[in-house]
Amino acid sequence: MRQNEAAPGNPLRDSRDRRLPLIAGPCSVVMFGVTGDLARKKLLPAIYDLHNRGLLPPAFGLVGFGRRDWSHDDFADYMRESVEKYARTPFNEHAFEQLRGGLRFVTGAFDDTEAFEELTRVVSELDDSRGTGGNHAFYLSIPPSAFPQVAEQLAQSGLNTPSEHSWRRVVIEKPFGHDLESARELNDIVEKVFKPEEIFRIDHYLGKETVQNLLAFRFANQMFEPVWNSRYVDHVQITMAEDIGIGTRAGYYDGIGTARDVIQNHLLQLLALTAMEEPITFDAAELRNEKEKVLAAVELPEDLAEGTARGQYVGGWQGGEQVNGYLEENGISPDSTTETFAAIKLKVNTRRWAGVPFYLRAGKRLGRRVTEIAIVYKQVPFLPFRDTDTVDLGQNAVVIRVQPDEGVTMRFGSKVPGTQMEVRDVNMDFAYGSTFTEESPEAYERLILDVLRGAPPLFPRQKEVELSWKILDPILEFWDEHMPPAPYRSGTWGPQTAHDMMARDGRTWRRP
Ligand code: BG6
Repeated sequence: MRQNEAAPGNPLRDSRDRRLPLIAGPCSVVMFGVTGDLARKKLLPAIYDLHNRGLLPPAFGLVGFGRRDWSHDDFADYMRESVEKYARTPFNEHAFEQLRGGLRFVTGAFDDTEAFEELTRVVSELDDSRGTGGNHAFYLSIPPSAFPQVAEQLAQSGLNTPSEHSWRRVVIEKPFGHDLESARELNDIVEKVFKPEEIFRIDHYLGKETVQNLLAFRFANQMFEPVWNSRYVDHVQITMAEDIGIGTRAGYYDGIGTARDVIQNHLLQLLALTAMEEPITFDAAELRNEKEKVLAAVELPEDLAEGTARGQYVGGWQGGEQVNGYLEENGISPDSTTETFAAIKLKVNTRRWAGVPFYLRAGKRLGRRVTEIAIVYKQVPFLPFRDTDTVDLGQNAVVIRVQPDEGVTMRFGSKVPGTQMEVRDVNMDFAYGSTFTEESPEAYERLILDVLRGAPPLFPRQKEVELSWKILDPILEFWDEHMPPAPYRSGTWGPQTAHDMMARDGRTWRRP
């Protein structure tokens, strides 16, 4: 095993002191799409934060590749600006100067062979001057339509081929296609140039601390797992609500919509982690196998008109401000039928979950920003109280709050103080903020570090991507033909059709 690579086998059982931070070895990252929003707001700040926290080696280089006519210094200034604005750790002049020494920029278009020749020279110069050891990661923060060109150029220039003692990795940002067929085509393109184990598909939800805590919560504790099944659980609700609209992302979002944007990846990943069986180890292969079994066991509602809902926000008030409707947003065509809200009821046909509906909902311009997984329990089979004693009693629930206010809440019935026997719902809270002194790292920090360390467990493999599209494709087709999005006012909790969908099952959405 090379130094600094992730240990194979069960990471919980290796002999390394787990309190020591994980640090990347010598390497460089080549970033395509470096002037995009994601790079500016998340990726470059995450690289700086890793460096500032001492998790990148001095032998580190970062090469931006793009059309701008920039010198290395221009790129460094651009990075500095983005870091000062968006990094989570305080700006440290000395740390930035150290990082700056390894920053390079190559000007070119994605089909510009000469620019890729220059790129080859630059990464090898970094190998010599910074000692990056011939280890290169290529970060494709670009639209999938640009993948074929970049992949071809990387292959043609030989940049994709490692020597015997070095590695190559490629990082791909979503969307991984817009349906099953295009996801396969995309993968074929990338796999012609990189080996499956060199491909890291980013789903930034898997880098979130609370999402990883779901595994600890379920499998490191004795008290939850026995009641984590159809015998006790009535249903599961997974919510990803955003209060923002589409902002300046019309070009990306229109024609994509909520289901492709966040359900195909983030929400189905959350479902898989919530419903999966315990893996034998937290090895990439074991973890992925268990998630894939869940996705393969997912069944759609028989009647998609009743078991799904689709919405589009119209203008309204949010946070004291008047906001535009989706159709009035810049760059959106006034007759767009792209959804900004989606709700889907799914079954997971396994022994553990048969008969338990999983309700997924996601949307923009909803009541507030919150992502949570709620396990809602059945009522007790018999209540030895008078009806009037328990009028305020709901269902027990375990709620994993992914963000914000990361933590876990348990909701259960408790006696109201007094001589009477009145039972009412109460909450018991665990909050990261008040329990741990360390702040959770940003998801991208964790994921970039894992790429550089060669640790794949938090990256979905192609099979998961394909299984997710298999779930979504029939819904998207049905929506296209039969279900235009229903309007909902900004700042509310989605269209009436989403509430009707729950009401038909005698349930209601949680108000997070
Ligand atoms: C991205 C989606 O994957 O996740 C965006 O493309 C969405 O539309 C974003 O806003 C939300 O991420 P987070 O981490 O803020 O929940």
